[in-house]
Amino acid sequence: MPGRIVPANDAWIAEAAQMIRAGALVAFPTETVYGLGSDAANGEAVARIFEAKGRPSFNPLIVHVAGLEQAVIIGSFSATARRLTEAFWPGPLTLVVPRLETTDVSDLVSAGLPTVAIRAPDHPIARELLKQANRPIAAPSANRSGHVSATRAEHVAADLGDNATLILNGGPTAHGLESTVLSLVGDTPVLLRPGAVSIETIEQVIGEKIARANEKGEHLTSPGQLRSHYAPHSKLRLNATTWKSDEAVLGFGKVAKHPCRASINLSPSGDLIEAAANLFAALRALDESGADTIAVTPIPTAGLGEAINDRLERAAAPRD
Ligand code: TXA
Ligand code: MG
Repeated sequence: MPGRIVPANDAWIAEAAQMIRAGALVAFPTETVYGLGSDAANGEAVARIFEAKGRPSFNPLIVHVAGLEQAVIIGSFSATARRLTEAFWPGPLTLVVPRLETTDVSDLVSAGLPTVAIRAPDHPIARELLKQANRPIAAPSANRSGHVSATRAEHVAADLGDNATLILNGGPTAHGLESTVLSLVGDTPVLLRPGAVSIETIEQVIGEKIARANEKGEHLTSPGQLRSHYAPHSKLRLNATTWKSDEAVLGFGKVAKHPCRASINLSPSGDLIEAAANLFAALRALDESGADTIAVTPIPTAGLGEAINDRLERAAAPRD
């Protein structure tokens, strides 16, 4: 179905909620910018977000929730985190918190990190969509990678075309500036992205100074860019066509049947979307097999293959 702009009336919001539940991508307005959303628990739907945006790497996405009740079963909220949600939710403050092991949110949303970014948007259409879909919605800004964020439905259509099955038109967004992203993962809060809520207002609420990401040296500005950040313990050997019997094998498509210590095929049928959805869990599982080396069979670089290969190259890079 081609991407189309529809009025955000009750009937279309209900349809959009159904589509989210069925695994489709829906663009919707928030108070900051338009988001391109999918069911956060559906790994293949999340993979299609990365494909639609044409992102060359897996940056972690924000999970949108109706409120704290939905958030606390995804991430761990400290007293400070709760105070911030009381002060700023619903609203343009995204909190990065430790991810709960029990969450069913896809690990592709966190790009394999042990953390997750969550916010409750303050926009009647976004809130109604979240309520009716009745599940958390993963959504980056609804623009092609490298383009500016979309603040109108027409911009989403021009940028993403057919990739959003439906675009709920809520008119121009109020802020036109993305949410503030604050990490509450370490000992002190760290500002990862300045945005619609000012740092001073946040400092007033928590009575504590907030560090800027770049003041802390290697800190987290863009976790996906740190080469060794998600490195598994095992070494990775890319474009492997053969392997030793004590090596683990991460396969894609048709894979030769040499003996090996453990093996997982990301997608026996050679589907890059399925492969992206399985990537992080597969890496973790093979890492836990105890093999010194994971041999990775060739993966095409077209479409989502670029981001998959980017992730694997980072994991294969020499450690600091
Ligand atoms: O206003 C907004 O935040 C919009 C609307 C749609 O909600 N969304 C948005 O999403 O701007 P996106 O994907 O374009 O930006 C998400 C930001 C990125 O800078 C990303 O690196 C950061 O949040 N982020 C997400 N998860 C993270 C994590 N686990 N750790 C650190 N940073 C994270
Ligand atoms: Mg963005």
